[in-house]
Amino acid sequence: MESMILTPRLACIAALVPQGARLADVGTDHGKLPISLLLEGRIASAIGSDIGEGPLAHAARNAQEHGVSLSLRLAPGLDAVRPEECDTVSIAGMGGQTIAEILQAAPWTADGAHLLLLQPMTMVYELRQWLWAHGYAIERETLCREDRRRYVVLSVRGGAPAKQVPLSQCAFSPALLCTFGAADYLQHLLTREQRALTGMEQARDRDDTRLAAQRALVQEIEQALEGLI
Ligand SMILES: C[S@@+](CC[C@H](N)C(=O)[O-])C[C@H]1O[C@@H](n2cnc3c(N)ncnc32)[C@H](O)[C@@H]1O
Repeated sequence: MESMILTPRLACIAALVPQGARLADVGTDHGKLPISLLLEGRIASAIGSDIGEGPLAHAARNAQEHGVSLSLRLAPGLDAVRPEECDTVSIAGMGGQTIAEILQAAPWTADGAHLLLLQPMTMVYELRQWLWAHGYAIERETLCREDRRRYVVLSVRGGAPAKQVPLSQCAFSPALLCTFGAADYLQHLLTREQRALTGMEQARDRDDTRLAAQRALVQEIEQALEGLI
């Protein structure tokens, strides 16, 4: 059977899926992540769910061409997935806010029995803040690059005490600081956030509250970086 080559971003997520997992891939689109893991014999079963009929048809074609059994569900988020059907949930290639909304609509994801692999395209700070506020622990953060873009994959589990963390402290988690490439990633964030700070300082309609929050954010990243190098 022909193997399926994953892009670096999807390969990074695939590497985090435990051997023998029962995977639910939300927003599966082409279905490449679960299909590749099924082909390699890495997972016991896979559900691919998507809000769109077109993506699901694409996933169905790919699964058929590769001769694997992928259970497809047409629904938003995890609406068509039962907690007992999976032990690992991947949600990749979507905005951080959409990912948070999907988890919020499926409170069982906070039960601590499910590993959640989350790869936000945007609003990463906000996603961390939401996860911490809702009792999800960020156990691990993995960094990868595809083309010229950088991505972070969060390995998350529910069942932790909820904590309120200001957004200025959500640019990274303690887990990210232990990850290969953390210093390079923080330097990239620092350059971006310093540029944003300069823009805010020079703006004619200065917003002092936002400015103070941005200064605090830059300081958090600087301090973390100093600890790494
Ligand atoms: C950019 S693709 C990402 C595909 C794949 N997960 C990846 O990372 O390469 C986003 C997919 O998520 C689906 N999607 C967007 N919002 C969704 C939601 N709320 N629930 C389920 N699927 C959703 C879209 O239809 C699309 O197929």
